[in-house]
Amino acid sequence: MYRLLAEVDRSPLSELLPFEVAGALLAALAQQQPTFRRVFGLIGGAVAKAVSTTFIILVVAAFFARHVLDNKNTIAKTHSPEIVQARMLARFEAGSVIPRFEKYHVSRPDAVAMLQKVLRPAPLETYTVVVGEVGCGKTSAVHDAIRANSTGIVYHIVKSEVLVSMPGLLAGSLAFEFNQFTFTAGYFKDRGIEMHQIASAEEPFKSWAILELGLRDVAAQFKAKHGHVATLVIDAVDQIAQQGPALLHVIQNFAKAAADEQLLNVVLVTCDGSNLPELKASSAMTRARIVEVSDITDEQAVDFLLHRGVNEDSAKRAVAEIAGGRFVLLNRVTKQLGRGQQVNQIFEEFRVDTADSLQRLIDDLALYNATSDVHKTLCDLTHGALHIDIVHCALGKDLTKKLLATNINILAYHPNDTYTLHSRHVQRSVSTLLNCTRPLGRPLFLAS
Ligand SMILES: Nc1ncnc2c1ncn2[C@@H]1O[C@H](COP(=O)(O)OP(=O)(O)OP(=O)(O)O)[C@@H](O)[C@H]1O
Ligand SMILES: *[C@@H]1O[C@H](CO)[C@@H](O)[C@H](O)[C@H]1NC(C)=O
Ligand SMILES: *[C@@H]1O[C@H](CO)[C@@H](O)[C@H](O)[C@H]1NC(C)=O
Ligand SMILES: *[C@@H]1O[C@H](CO)[C@@H](O)[C@H](O)[C@H]1NC(C)=O
Ligand SMILES: *[C@@H]1O[C@H](CO)[C@@H](O)[C@H](O)[C@H]1NC(C)=O
Ligand SMILES: [Mg+2]
Repeated sequence: MYRLLAEVDRSPLSELLPFEVAGALLAALAQQQPTFRRVFGLIGGAVAKAVSTTFIILVVAAFFARHVLDNKNTIAKTHSPEIVQARMLARFEAGSVIPRFEKYHVSRPDAVAMLQKVLRPAPLETYTVVVGEVGCGKTSAVHDAIRANSTGIVYHIVKSEVLVSMPGLLAGSLAFEFNQFTFTAGYFKDRGIEMHQIASAEEPFKSWAILELGLRDVAAQFKAKHGHVATLVIDAVDQIAQQGPALLHVIQNFAKAAADEQLLNVVLVTCDGSNLPELKASSAMTRARIVEVSDITDEQAVDFLLHRGVNEDSAKRAVAEIAGGRFVLLNRVTKQLGRGQQVNQIFEEFRVDTADSLQRLIDDLALYNATSDVHKTLCDLTHGALHIDIVHCALGKDLTKKLLATNINILAYHPNDTYTLHSRHVQRSVSTLLNCTRPLGRPLFLAS
């Protein structure tokens, strides 16, 4: 079969499209057929049939031949670096499609306006890290900010995938295709890299390196064409960090270089504030601007619960005593109230969780000593934010880090260099557990 096609390949027919072949044969037949019919009668009919059978075979053969050729040519053409990059450029130009929000939606004009500035910086000075506690509404706010006008913005969210598949999935969001036609030594050489440098790298770094080269080319094309940089948003980078910091550092370095070179606006979104104080010390972080998506206000939160069918009394108590303006907590409380639980019962569940986490630390650290710095500092935190230096000094870096870890969730870091307790229910739990009683009205924020 293959041999046959290869031979047909060389015949002049294969140089014509099936339609052209068909057209030429039909014209010839049309000229000859009256003569066939008249002179040869039935025999003529048989000949005509034979001719048309041959014709069909020829057309089919030509079609296959063409197809084989096409496959070779089109693969080379459609997979060339130029075509692959043209698709990525088109994706940036069209922008990512952000689905509509379905349930009752709290409008957050301040957060959205802040994020829109981040998405379209003028001029590009830094890359941005958007932080915010787990479930405070970062993803939704970023979506709201992009949805209005996604031109020039590609959005990608990291799920709980294994690390090695991260660059491939990001490439999917960028409409970028890895293939052997872009992996040529010439392609790399043009970009000042030896093929073996890439070939010897391990995944996911190898795929990242190839993707990054494509991204750089396309970002430059976008900027040249439109006079401003495109934007790449990578949401939930905490999922990457959980599996080790190396890939995240590579991405941060790229984000920094892209900002330094005025090439591409990279925006990273993370709920993991626990690493931020350290990352800030790293060189790539010096180029980062950190912005925060915070909770909604208590009033908005009560309103949100009312729209979700919670009665006013429970809504006010649930916000004041458990959830504050944290969406993920508001959603959980709505469910539990819907099952007939009382606000007190729900708080008790949270308190037990916090107590368990704290108890493990208390055993080590004698937090119940009311005169110790640790105890005093945690009690201070039940009233508001403290500067990170004060907390590091009183608690030590190890304990601070443990309290920040997302599985313990007692402390929360904020980009204005302060810590607070993680949420409303944690404030109340800590206050109860440590018997923090102090006069109100004292100034609480102690800037260093
Ligand atoms: N403005 C809003 N109005 C109504 N519901 C919202 C709003 N923002 C977020 N939510 C809801 O709150 C929940 C958490 O939101 P979202 O996923 O945006 O938070 P997140 O900060 O990105 O969370 P994570 O830290 O897990 O990434 C979702 O169920 C979402 O539907
Ligand atoms: C969307 O943003 C792009 C780039 O900033 C701009 O050129 C375009 O006019 C905007 N479109 C709308 C509908 O606002
Ligand atoms: C409580 O802590 C203070 C300060 O850290 C220390 O001086 C004191 O001895 C501690 N008291 C007890 C009973 O452990
Ligand atoms: C810092 O940010 C936190 C969280 O947004 C806030 O509670 C605190 O008041 C801020 N402190 C200052 C000094 O701005
Ligand atoms: C809590 O502290 C107050 C005074 O600060 C004290 O009178 C009370 O006994 C303490 N309660 C507990 C349970 O330690
Ligand atoms: Mg999110």
